[in-house]
Amino acid sequence: MLKKLFGRKNPHRVHLSGTQVEFEVGRNKTVLESALESGIAYPHDCTVGTCGSCRSRLLSGKVDAITPFGYTLSREELQAGYILACQAVPETDLEIAVELVDAAKLVRTTARLVETKDLTHDIKQVTWETDVPVCYRAGQYMNVSWPGAPGPRSYSFSAAPVAGGQNRLTTFIRRVPGGAFTEKLFSEDISSLPFEIEAPHGSFWLREAKTPILLIGGGSGLSPLLSVLEDAASRGVQRDAILLFGGRAERDLFCLEEIESLSRRWQGRFAFWPVLSEESAPDRKSGMVTAQIPEAIDWLGGASALQAYLCGPPAMIDAGVKALTETGIDLAEIHYDKFTDASSRAS
Ligand SMILES: Cc1cc2nc3c(=O)[nH]c(=O)nc-3n(C[C@H](O)[C@H](O)[C@H](O)COP(=O)(O)OP(=O)(O)OC[C@H]3O[C@@H](n4cnc5c(N)ncnc54)[C@H](O)[C@@H]3O)c2cc1C
Ligand code: FES
Repeated sequence: MLKKLFGRKNPHRVHLSGTQVEFEVGRNKTVLESALESGIAYPHDCTVGTCGSCRSRLLSGKVDAITPFGYTLSREELQAGYILACQAVPETDLEIAVELVDAAKLVRTTARLVETKDLTHDIKQVTWETDVPVCYRAGQYMNVSWPGAPGPRSYSFSAAPVAGGQNRLTTFIRRVPGGAFTEKLFSEDISSLPFEIEAPHGSFWLREAKTPILLIGGGSGLSPLLSVLEDAASRGVQRDAILLFGGRAERDLFCLEEIESLSRRWQGRFAFWPVLSEESAPDRKSGMVTAQIPEAIDWLGGASALQAYLCGPPAMIDAGVKALTETGIDLAEIHYDKFTDASSRAS
């Protein structure tokens, strides 16, 4: 293993499929490290193999994994040739498919927490005001730090972006018991903390197409899905869409009026299915939200060509990706942001 990592003389070359971009990977370097050193806007966040942001498809060549990709990627993704660039050390020259990010928009700014509102018993809507305007695409997220933070925390924007950028950034945040930031947010007045925000991050945005859209969210994972839907509605996107939202009980549902208003403005067929896993209630579906996928695909016309967008707890995303691929949806059409936290990094 050590010989494989450190014993190589010539750097391997990586070509990013469909682009002119090529770079060398130095000895004992990962694909991500070398891409960033070459000034390439490779998508990434945690750099330790837990968030999945650097997920890329290996089209040819061979890599060694510093930590097994299977901790973060699903069996279906591994079988389809996906790797994590931050954990991949080339063993040969490589051809990789990945969507680069728009690094030119990235800003780091000081910010104040200006507003909080309870959405449920464990989710708050939180708004920061930044000193420098931030431009983002609907679905992206920001990294938030504060003095003494153990590391930045990622939060997805919940509102549609404003053209030209904006200083007010809103998100939905769920309380995580024992969490360094969320326990503070839910139990203290932290409005005087000098926050720092870096944004935009991520590649969870609506891809241009004419195909139907299936969106699946759990908990605060509704945040980027609403941003994507509000933005698409305001641009007059004409595609059929269904939004599945999973909660344990009725008290976990929120933004119902906003979703109702969205459905009236949507320029195609639109359905919203709240799914409760621990309670039955009239007008609600029961069970795990991902178990509704086959029925939701039927509602969309049984399409084998559709785009899926998933956001929320890692276990929900893994189950969703599995169910979607079992119905024949191509992994390239499945987009997600897993809301990983310090417990995921520790595993
Ligand atoms: C791309 C992305 C987007 C996200 N967007 C959102 C969003 O819009 N809304 C949202 O609510 N969340 C979002 N998250 C999750 C968010 O970034 C935080 O991880 C979450 O809020 C928890 O932060 P925390 O500081 O409260 O908890 P943490 O300090 O991260 O702790 C989380 C849990 O891990 C435990 N823990 C801490 N250290 C260890 C350890 N060493 N070993 C084992 N367990 C440990 C803690 O006790 C706690 O139970 C997103 C995450 C990602 C990656
Ligand atoms: S940057 Fe590679 S998994 Fe997070």
